[in-house]
Amino acid sequence: MQALPGFRDFLPTDCAARNYIFAHWREVARRYGFVEWDGPVLEPTELYRKKSGDEIIGQLFNFTDKGEREVALRPELTPTLARIIAAHEREFKKPLKWFSIGSCFRYEKQQRGRLREHIQLNCDVIGEPGLAADIELVALSIDILRVFGFNEKDFVVRISDREFWIDFLKSQNVPEASWQEILQTIDKSEREPREKTIEKLGALSDPVLAILEKGGRSEKLEKLVDGLRARGLADFVDVDVRIVRGLAYYTGIVFEVFDRVGKLRAVAGGGRYDNLIEQLSDGATKLPAVGFAMGDVVLGELIKDRPTASQKMETTLRDESKIDIYVVVAKEERRADALAQVQQLRDGGYRVDYPLVPEKVGKQFQLAEDLGATIAVLYGDEWPQVKVKTLATREEKLVPNSDLFARIDSLLR
Ligand code: HAM
Repeated sequence: MQALPGFRDFLPTDCAARNYIFAHWREVARRYGFVEWDGPVLEPTELYRKKSGDEIIGQLFNFTDKGEREVALRPELTPTLARIIAAHEREFKKPLKWFSIGSCFRYEKQQRGRLREHIQLNCDVIGEPGLAADIELVALSIDILRVFGFNEKDFVVRISDREFWIDFLKSQNVPEASWQEILQTIDKSEREPREKTIEKLGALSDPVLAILEKGGRSEKLEKLVDGLRARGLADFVDVDVRIVRGLAYYTGIVFEVFDRVGKLRAVAGGGRYDNLIEQLSDGATKLPAVGFAMGDVVLGELIKDRPTASQKMETTLRDESKIDIYVVVAKEERRADALAQVQQLRDGGYRVDYPLVPEKVGKQFQLAEDLGATIAVLYGDEWPQVKVKTLATREEKLVPNSDLFARIDSLLR
C-alpha cells in the first residue's frame, strides 16, 4: 500500500529537512515580532465558498461528515484566520502580527512543486490599513528566504496592486460584476496562450495587453519600493502588474515570490485583504488585513537546486543529528552500571546512546562513529574506572566512574 497521490511519507531525513524549514520560519517570524496561532484542518465548506474564489473551490477535498455537515480539509489558512479573528479580536490590541505553520490540502494534479498536501507558513498583520504593514510583510518574506542562504540573484518578489487594475477597469467603465473574471484572466495570462487571453478579454484585450507589455506603476507601488529600499531590500523586488493572484479576496497590494530562473511555481504569495474578515463575519467585524503564505514544497525544491542553500542545510542537519556520547558496554557484567550512567547523562541534557543488546566492542565503536558521537565511554575491565575516548583525536583517559560526569562536562561544555 502506498500513500495517496500527492501525499508524502516523511522518513527521518525528510522530517529533519522539514524541521529545518520550520525552525527557520519560526525564528525569522519571531524576529519580526509575530506570534504563533493554529486552527483546525477541517472546516465548514461554506468558509471557502464565500470568498476564496472558484479555483480553490474546484480543488477542495470536501465531503459530508457523519453529522450531515458539509466539510472541507483546509486548502489555505487565511479563511480560518479571518474566522478566528472575527470571533476573538476584542481580546487583542491591534495590530496583530500572527503566524502559523500548517498542512493545507488541494486536489491538484501532482507535479513538481505541486502536491495535494503541502505545508504553509502564513504571516499576517491584522488591524493596520497603512502601507507600513505591507512593507513589513514583503520584508519578512525576503528575510525568510535570506536565512536559508538565498540572495537577490536567487529570487525576486514581484509586487503589484489590485487597486491599479480596479482603477483601470473603472476608467474603462467595466461593471463591477465582471471585475473578478477579468482579474483572473490577467492572473492566468502568463500561463495561458495569448489567443486565449485575447478571447477572454474581448474589447479590453488591447489596453490590457499594452499595460502587461509596457508595465504599470502607481504612487502606492513606488512608496512600497521606497520603503523596502530604506531597509536595503530594493534589489529583491520588482514592480510587476502581471501579478494579480488567484484568490478572490485580495483588495490591494499583492505579491508573489519566484526563483529568478523561473523554473518553479511561486514559493510564496500574498497581499492585502481588507474586506474578508467583514465578509466572513456578515459585517460584524471590520478589520483590514495583509499577509502571505510560503509553501514547503517549492521551498524544498529551491533549496535542493541551489548549492549554497543545500550545503547550509546539510551541514546543519549533520550537526543536529549527532549524538554527544556513545556508551560502549565492553563487559555485560557492567551493563547495569553503564545504564545508570546513561540515565544521569541524559538527565544532564546530553544526547546519549548505547547498544540495546550485547555487541562486539569493535562494532560498538563503529556505531559510535556512525552516530557522530564526540565521546565514547567504555565500561569494561577497568571498572570502577571507565575509559573516556574523544573520537576525533583518539585521545583516551581512564577516570573513576564517579568523576565521569565532571569529566564529560569539561570536554563538552
Ligand atoms: P497561495 O498563493 O494559494 O496563497 O499559496 C501560497 C503558497 O503555497 C504558494 O506560493 C505555494 O508555494 C504553496 N502552495 C499552494 N498550493 C500548493 C500545492 N498544491 N502544492 C504545493 N505548494 C502549494 C494562499 O494560500 C494565501 N492564503 C496566502 C495568504 C496569507 N494571503 C494572505 N495571507
